Amino acid sequence: TFLGIDVGTSSVKAILVDENQRLIAEGSASVEVMRPRPMWSEQNPEDWWNAAHAAVGRIRELAASDFLELQAIGLSGQQHSATLLDGHGSVLRPAILWNDGRCGRECAELLERIPDFFARASNTTMPGFTAPKLLWVARHEPELFAKVAKVLLPKDYLRYRLSGDYVSDRSDSAGTLWLDIGRREWDDVLLQGGGMKHSQMPDLVEGSEVSAFLSTEVAALWGLTGRKIPIAGGGGDNASSAVGIGAVSPGDGFLSLGTSGVLFVSTDRLVSLPERTLHGFCHALPQRWHGMVVALSAASALSWLGALTGHGHDVAGLIEKAKIFASDPARRDAAPLFLPYLAGERTPHNDPNATAKFDGLRAEHDAGALAYAVLEGVAFALADGLDVLKAASAAPRTCMLVGGGSRSAYWNGLLADVLDVSLDLPEGAEIGAAFGAARLAMLAGGAGTIETVCRKPAIRARFEPDRDNAAALAGRRERYVHMYSPAG
Ligand code: XUL
Repeated sequence: TFLGIDVGTSSVKAILVDENQRLIAEGSASVEVMRPRPMWSEQNPEDWWNAAHAAVGRIRELAASDFLELQAIGLSGQQHSATLLDGHGSVLRPAILWNDGRCGRECAELLERIPDFFARASNTTMPGFTAPKLLWVARHEPELFAKVAKVLLPKDYLRYRLSGDYVSDRSDSAGTLWLDIGRREWDDVLLQGGGMKHSQMPDLVEGSEVSAFLSTEVAALWGLTGRKIPIAGGGGDNASSAVGIGAVSPGDGFLSLGTSGVLFVSTDRLVSLPERTLHGFCHALPQRWHGMVVALSAASALSWLGALTGHGHDVAGLIEKAKIFASDPARRDAAPLFLPYLAGERTPHNDPNATAKFDGLRAEHDAGALAYAVLEGVAFALADGLDVLKAASAAPRTCMLVGGGSRSAYWNGLLADVLDVSLDLPEGAEIGAAFGAARLAMLAGGAGTIETVCRKPAIRARFEPDRDNAAALAGRRERYVHMYSPAG
């Protein structure tokens, strides 16, 4: 059997599959996000370990004998988040997460320090990425910065706890801004310009290669004595999700509707358009890359409105109201517009200080009208992202839907119309990144090839763009695009 563990932002999820990729058991445990100051977002790395241990504990309860047959482990995780360790491997401060916006100033500084930054990093600096976070620590916590012996990403910190080794994979490391994405190795100029040293970086492997082995201590803790269990390199959560749905060939894409909204396209070459915030990263498989655009608030914008309007976690109820509201075209045309920058925005503005807004509110607008505006506004934000992918000649040829938001057929249909792309809802879409990590474990454990392991799932539903609706929405998008203006 094979274990995939995904270190997410709200929970750590583990799944156990057999050689035929059938799901045997899954477990998860939630983790807290701390927001001690405006724009800050932090987590205790110890919580990732505890949650991973709890999630695996659940699998051991549900499938004890299958777990004893464990052949390999794969890891996936939230990207970019900086975990700082001292020379003894102890955590120096809470990890600074991918959705933390504190280091805007350091983003500008990095570009000044390294004049050919775009050419070297193939990406622009954004506060979510790792390198500017370390410049922030150097400025604001210099004594602590002086003690940094290793910087790890979340899943790589978990690997360290599982194996004692400092290793990362190239898809996740691509999001640090210290990697030469084309060569797939650390770049000394990027490191030096960011105040870092090569020795502070983990070793690199491909996601499908063996990175380390489970330590005898953890093996004993999990009742797995007597065998060496390899841990695959694994991947960032987006690259892992792609592996999980077989988006591994050029043009294979997905749209993920989670906390953030992500459009991802697999490529056979490095794609780069830093001036427009394209994320041009390595894939979790050798000799493959991917392009990606990120809207920071997607399903989270809907939960935000749900909580405000007394719907709590029942976003399905809220979406139903949106659908009823928009069923009358005249009413829909007079709906408010929503700019979804509740957490600032990456694509296309790279502006951590951007704010959200409703425009065109009237007394007759109810929760359904606002919910429609949110669903549509997130779709428009993703359309801005698709334009960037197109400009980089990296538009998806096929696009699957993943993430919690894809449970709504209504939203999926609206997204297909706005993006003018057919969207395929796969069977088992909710399994996500942990499933991709389990597939990488299979590859590292020698249980198949990329072709045999990274198959595409069966499609449960296809959402085709409705050209009439798309035409009706074009004018609204035109107004939407003018809603943003940079602060200051
Ligand atoms: C990608 C990104 C997010 C996190 C979420 O660049 O920041 O999608 O990976 O976990």
